[in-house]
Amino acid sequence: MGSNDGSARRSSAWFAAEGRNGFIHRSWMRNQGFGPEVFDGRPVIGIANSWSELTPCNAHLRDVADAVKRGVWEAGGLPLEFNTMSLGEPLMRPTTMLYRNLMAMEVEETLRANPLDGVVLLSGCDKTTPAMLMGAASVDIPSIMVTGGPMLNGKFRGRDIGSGTAVWKLSEEMRAGKLTEADLREAEGCMSRSRGHCMTMGTASTMACMAESLGMQMSGGAAVPAVDARRYVLAQASGRQAVQLVEQDLRPSQVLTREAFENAIRVNAALGGSTNAVVHLLALAGRVEVPLELGEFDALTSEVPVLADMMPSGRFLMEDFYYAGGLPVVMRELGALIHQEPVTVTGRAIGEEIAGAECFNREVIRTVSEPFMPAGAGTVVLYGSLCPDGAVLKVSAADPELLTHRGRALVFDRVEDYTAAADDPDLPVDPDTVIVVRGAGPKGYPGFPEVGNVPVPKVLLEAGVEDIVRISDARMSGTGYGTCVLHVAPESAVGGPLALVRTGDVVELDVPGRRLDLRVDEAELAARAEAEAASAAAGDGAKDSGGGARRGWSKLYTDHVMQADRGADLDFLTGGSGSEVPRHSH
Ligand code: FES
Ligand code: MG
Repeated sequence: MGSNDGSARRSSAWFAAEGRNGFIHRSWMRNQGFGPEVFDGRPVIGIANSWSELTPCNAHLRDVADAVKRGVWEAGGLPLEFNTMSLGEPLMRPTTMLYRNLMAMEVEETLRANPLDGVVLLSGCDKTTPAMLMGAASVDIPSIMVTGGPMLNGKFRGRDIGSGTAVWKLSEEMRAGKLTEADLREAEGCMSRSRGHCMTMGTASTMACMAESLGMQMSGGAAVPAVDARRYVLAQASGRQAVQLVEQDLRPSQVLTREAFENAIRVNAALGGSTNAVVHLLALAGRVEVPLELGEFDALTSEVPVLADMMPSGRFLMEDFYYAGGLPVVMRELGALIHQEPVTVTGRAIGEEIAGAECFNREVIRTVSEPFMPAGAGTVVLYGSLCPDGAVLKVSAADPELLTHRGRALVFDRVEDYTAAADDPDLPVDPDTVIVVRGAGPKGYPGFPEVGNVPVPKVLLEAGVEDIVRISDARMSGTGYGTCVLHVAPESAVGGPLALVRTGDVVELDVPGRRLDLRVDEAELAARAEAEAASAAAGDGAKDSGGGARRGWSKLYTDHVMQADRGADLDFLTGGSGSEVPRHSH
């Protein structure tokens, strides 16, 4: 019999067993009040829940799981909810990105080790979405994602404020003397006024849209607000669909094709989405062994205009985006730029899913003929003597005047050094200064934190300068903005040219030409490299890769993390190990 035969399912290796082992697998499960009939060979659907009170963006996912369970029961499956690791941006230090691969490993191993035939992945906050997709992809059992949905729009003193973006804006206003600490405290409760993840087009909303455009989340699913009843309708439908996926044996490897990645990359450009999507998509592509290079992102998006007028680049928030018709409208609007054939978790082609999409607000989602911003305004990839393996910059978040720029570097080895100096009235800066922050890459920090959008020096803010060029091997929050060159690879901690820049060097940024260059002659750079190597050999460990990690996860991570252009996954996690049932435990 085919894949519809219950005895061919993974779960049957546990629940259909006779004798001692079958007794063990079933008996303890019955303490939860399950009758013998749930072991009749029906599809067992895991509900991987990244719920946590330490991840406020995911704190409502227990309720979402209940709706998923209804759907699984309804379709004749057995739902089994379990916790996964959770990664919350607001609290976790030094950065959630240090733990994305750990969570992906944890999800992968949990799926493989248990009697699961399929899984519903519940994510929300930034890294929880790629971590779950990466883990599920490496097991390759039928999987469907349900993201938790965005918060309602922030509302402060009569205007809409966006999560994250408002933090950067309001805190700059306070530093410039326009707001008080008390004003800022009042804004806290106004910004985050419902359950859900950030409602700007930051990393969480971007990654929810990536899951949808890749075909791993039901069409229309990304934008439904967390508190909207329709999110629970969607969750229930996804539970039903998970059972169907098992019946059809439709796996992530069939969904996550090269064409699906091309769609997602173009969608990210059309959304003016987060720079972090670049890193996560590269890592996910590595898991399914779809060839994808950082340098290809530019060519793939060269004809894609920004259609969504969304914060941080534009005006609107996710609630508006949902009411305007959400992601299917963007994808339909992109027309021939979107591959129509890739199959999604509904079992239908993405083209079918988006064919009927209708736009209800052209202010929020524009047309290709009258876009919000022209093609090339999304995230672009730069190469040059300062970033031989690439760097990224989000054009829509930058000051157009600075996109072609020549200035002198002011260099900081640690982001804390810059933070301490940023408000110094004597900081030697002018509007042309290029702030260089290093030691913030995957190995160096360690963990690749979102510190690349360091604040503009206070003396410049007071003089009315709101943006300057900033260069780092760090990432930037998806809600951040500014002319920030990010993800410089190789990072300084592994000896990239970024390590050789000195204060006063001339740096040239040429975004139209996709270049970032250090104007220092090669003989001088070679001499500096030699001096660096000598000081490292002499035991000056400050710049050692790994930030001195000696044990535990940080050690494993720094020993194996790949550079930004490879998605910062661990080298031994690329590809997958499949879903073969492991050996007996007793
Ligand atoms: Fe969790 Fe923004 S902090 S989504
Ligand atoms: Mg973020």
